[in-house]
Amino acid sequence: MSDNSTLIGDTVPTGASAPGTSPTMSTGGQPAFFSCWDIHAYYKESYIVQGVSFDIREGEIVALLGRNGAGKTSTLRAIARVDDPELKHGEIWLDHQPLHEMKAHQASRLGVGLVPEDRRIIQGLTVEENLKLAQIAPPVGWSLERIYDLFPRLGERKSQEGTTLSGGEQQMLAISRTLARDVKLLLLDEPYEGLAPVIVQEIEKTLEQIKALGITTIIVEQNAIAALHLADRAIILDMGQVVFDGKSQEVLDNADLRQQYLAI
Ligand SMILES: Nc1ncnc2c1ncn2[C@@H]1O[C@H](COP(=O)(O)OP(=O)(O)OP(=O)(O)O)[C@@H](O)[C@H]1O
Ligand SMILES: [Mg+2]
Repeated sequence: MSDNSTLIGDTVPTGASAPGTSPTMSTGGQPAFFSCWDIHAYYKESYIVQGVSFDIREGEIVALLGRNGAGKTSTLRAIARVDDPELKHGEIWLDHQPLHEMKAHQASRLGVGLVPEDRRIIQGLTVEENLKLAQIAPPVGWSLERIYDLFPRLGERKSQEGTTLSGGEQQMLAISRTLARDVKLLLLDEPYEGLAPVIVQEIEKTLEQIKALGITTIIVEQNAIAALHLADRAIILDMGQVVFDGKSQEVLDNADLRQQYLAI
């Protein structure tokens, strides 16, 4: 493994700073664009996110991986500041703003865009109405024209009810709805789930385009190989803790690591 990566044993990772101090520093001494420091989150008494810390540079794509139940979705939800799981300890910073002090709607206004696993297309609304609804409150992001340029299929189906789209098209709409707002941190939870390989490839191409635009992204995916090819860096969670933080290529090259934590 290179010097940049960390394989963390059974211990809870410790952050570079204590709560109440400034965000952790990425290499070079600048505060990281995104940083979570020692976050602990609970569903009632269930202790799930158990001291997760990592930084992300602006424009970086990070694959957040791990087995079923490792705590990936819970970590994304804690970052997006949705009520469940409850964040009880730790700090989360985005572009110098303290996300840990915010509610979900404030985090969203700041530019956190969570695309949840179930996509949540709003029933009874067309594709275009779903997109316009996302733009009802500031900060508005991409124009509808720009979205239809990236996803021509959505343009062709703009008058169709969103919930009648195919699974792949619904995923495109869910991603677009986030881009329709001014997003600084895109959180994708299993964007390829339940999709045929040919549709996965189509969405992968789009995510490559989004990557080229420099949108800072965390992608959670069971299809770890696909996520690793897209991402610059990988973070592996196991039982609510970070067990690896390093280059995606290192995970691709390390069969033991994949076998141990990803079962692939
Ligand atoms: N609403 C909830 N209430 C109680 N426990 C929950 C809740 N949601 C998730 N959990 C538990 O938290 C743990 C982590 O779940 P999480 O959904 O974060 O895992 P994951 O890594 O996203 O898994 P998967 O790959 O299956 O999506 C699991 O043990 C799960 O049962
Ligand atoms: Mg999940």
